Amino acid sequence: MKKSISFITLLGISFTLNVFLPGRTAAGTGEGAETYKAKCVACHGSDGSGNTPLGQKMKVRDLRSPDVQKQTDDELSAIIANGKPPMPGYGKSLGPEKIHDLVAYLRSIAAKS
Ligand code: HEC
Repeated sequence: MKKSISFITLLGISFTLNVFLPGRTAAGTGEGAETYKAKCVACHGSDGSGNTPLGQKMKVRDLRSPDVQKQTDDELSAIIANGKPPMPGYGKSLGPEKIHDLVAYLRSIAAKS
């Protein structure tokens, strides 16, 4: 529990840095797209629909859907960091900054559909 609180704090700090450091704004979805391709497509599909054999087996929700998108950035970051069984958590392997970029990427694929 203590661990996840300090993680949220880190996320907050990284978010603040991203907002106040010029040249590193919300447009930083490029890296998010790469991380997504490397770690997430097997279950969530390249378009986020979850239309993959694994995704269908696990009944993942469409990441572009309003049900998923209505959650705040903090909530989505926490799911990615801590996992949502059977999805593994990525807090340790990716760290707050990459997770921030992933959330930005998820917002970008939603906006397009
Ligand atoms: C082993 C398969 C698997 C992998 C890999 C995986 N996920 Fe998931 N993901 C799931 C499952 C299962 C759920 C829970 C079911 C659901 O809510 O869609 C989930 C839920 C989520 C949710 C919450 C959706 C909701 O319902 O609110 C987000 C956001 C998400 N995953 C993002 C990611 C990201 C980003 C990655 C890559 C870093 C990733 N997932 C990798 C299987 C996976």
